[in-house]
Amino acid sequence: MKKNIVVAASGSGSNFKALIDAVQNGTLDAKISGLIASREDIGAATFARQAGIPVYVLKSTTGETAPLLGDQLLEALEKFKADLFVLAGFLRKIPDEVVEAYRDRILNIHPSLLPRYGGKGFFGIRVHQAVLNAGETKSGCTIHLVNEAYDEGRVLAQKVVEVLPADEPADLAARVLREEHKLYAPTIQQYLESLTD
Ligand code: GAR
Repeated sequence: MKKNIVVAASGSGSNFKALIDAVQNGTLDAKISGLIASREDIGAATFARQAGIPVYVLKSTTGETAPLLGDQLLEALEKFKADLFVLAGFLRKIPDEVVEAYRDRILNIHPSLLPRYGGKGFFGIRVHQAVLNAGETKSGCTIHLVNEAYDEGRVLAQKVVEVLPADEPADLAARVLREEHKLYAPTIQQYLESLTD
């Protein structure tokens, strides 16, 4: 039986698209059973619809009567029968009750060499800006398990990327993203193979 992967995304969805491609070309032996999208109109939701993957759109969590993020994630993961929960540019912190319910079953990709440039406030282009401000000569991407502490779970894979003297944040982001696309699917495949049930 193929394992079900549920992906969550907040943005353009290029990592999600790379996972769809990896399933289609057989390098990732799993089924993407659903996408959890932060909004209806994000790029990732378009990729999902094109690939016939069902989308669960999160409702706003602001306001007193608004549904909680954790409740919505748990509902979606249940609905899509998730074996593995994969964050692909999902920019909200995963609530503790979800981490607890899917312990060691949640993976994240982050555009720096963790533990450097991770944690609250370090997402997307801000990470690359901080790396350049610090004068680093190397950056990269990290795939890790998600635990209760932001970006601190066990590292599963990393890829180092050169920082070039003339880099603007967008240049570094693009170079790192290309490596993210190559690293995520094989790391997920390897992790799935390591699971015993
Ligand atoms: C990726 O670079 C991913 O590593 C980053 O957001 C981008 C999403 O791009 N994630 C984080 O910063 C998480 N803290 P995508 O929507 O094109 O896949």
